[in-house]
Amino acid sequence: MERASPHRGPIRWAVAATGAIADRFAREFGAVADPGAELAAVGSRAPGTAQAFAARHGIGQAYGSYEALAAADIDAVYVANLAPFHCPLTKLFLEAGKHVLVEKPMALNEAEAAEMAEAAEANDRFLMEAMWMRFNPLHRQVAGLVASGAIGEVHRIQADFSIAVDFDPGHRLWSLEAGGGALLDLGIYPVSLAWWLLGEPSAVDHVVHVGPTGVDDDVSLLLGWETGAAAVLTTSIRSTGSTAARIDGAAGSIAIETRFHSAAAARLHTADGSTDLTAEASSLHWQVDEVNRCLREGLRQSPDHPNSTPRAMLARFDAIRADAGIRYPTEPPRP
Ligand SMILES: NC(=O)c1ccc[n+]([C@@H]2O[C@H](COP(=O)([O-])OP(=O)(O)OC[C@H]3O[C@@H](n4cnc5c(N)ncnc54)[C@H](OP(=O)(O)O)[C@@H]3O)[C@@H](O)[C@H]2O)c1
Repeated sequence: MERASPHRGPIRWAVAATGAIADRFAREFGAVADPGAELAAVGSRAPGTAQAFAARHGIGQAYGSYEALAAADIDAVYVANLAPFHCPLTKLFLEAGKHVLVEKPMALNEAEAAEMAEAAEANDRFLMEAMWMRFNPLHRQVAGLVASGAIGEVHRIQADFSIAVDFDPGHRLWSLEAGGGALLDLGIYPVSLAWWLLGEPSAVDHVVHVGPTGVDDDVSLLLGWETGAAAVLTTSIRSTGSTAARIDGAAGSIAIETRFHSAAAARLHTADGSTDLTAEASSLHWQVDEVNRCLREGLRQSPDHPNSTPRAMLARFDAIRADAGIRYPTEPPRP
């Protein structure tokens, strides 16, 4: 990957939005390793919510519009808004010269993600999807074990992220307008795990159930690779599932505890017996460490989670949604 000038001096971060995940991000930001990184600002659609968030988290500057935040003296923005706003807000901040960490899904579809990646390149700024699981210590340990051959060649992956959410058309997961549905919001975790361990699949089959608001509320996926490996992945907002993951290889298996995407414990089974795997707790700050590391090294993408990964995944999701007849209101009608 090409390198730009390394970022020197303080890294002034801002959070754009004041919802549930923005709150968690602000709470966990204190554990960030880089002593020069600071959560300096928050932006929201309204001054009141920005000020309340700033007061809650001891943040110095509060901006009552995203445009005002884009004009502020900050270096990096965490876009924590709903999925339909990921593309326009990310472009707003990139074009204002800020680096961006954008919540998952990176965008509603591949075309938006491509626009975002182009804007990052055109403005010489860093851009990464906030696939935080990718940077949690336990998940890195598991991926390291798999890569080192601890369970032999991987043949099968099973992973589930299904949580029954009471039906409420206004809830973001049930709302097409909010970019809801199981696949983009929850299913992205099992897909990301399988993709991380085995790379892009050569085949993706799906069964999708569409709920009363038009979002996918139950999705089963079968991914296949040229090696013969397969992944059975399930996600739902109407069914309760195991929320666990299991990786089976020729010489052993690894079972990640529920909820697998944020777990801090797993179990390795081999012919030598079983070993508990433990790690430091999952947290949103690990991914910020990665962004800071990249900025300090002059990288404009993370080598561990380059933008090509969410783009390729969104292209698959586009095809699945097209087949199921699911279109978000901000997307152009399909021919
Ligand atoms: N909740 C989680 O545990 C979780 C975990 C991982 C990732 N995420 C991802 O994070 C993103 C946000 O999720 P969340 O749970 O934080 O949602 P949320 O609590 O509903 O908050 C989303 C924020 O989006 C803004 N917003 C809401 N409606 C809007 C509208 N009509 N126009 C413009 N802005 C609007 C609001 O910010 P302002 O009012 O401040 O402008 C709101 O605080 C999603 O992409 C989700 O997939 C969530």
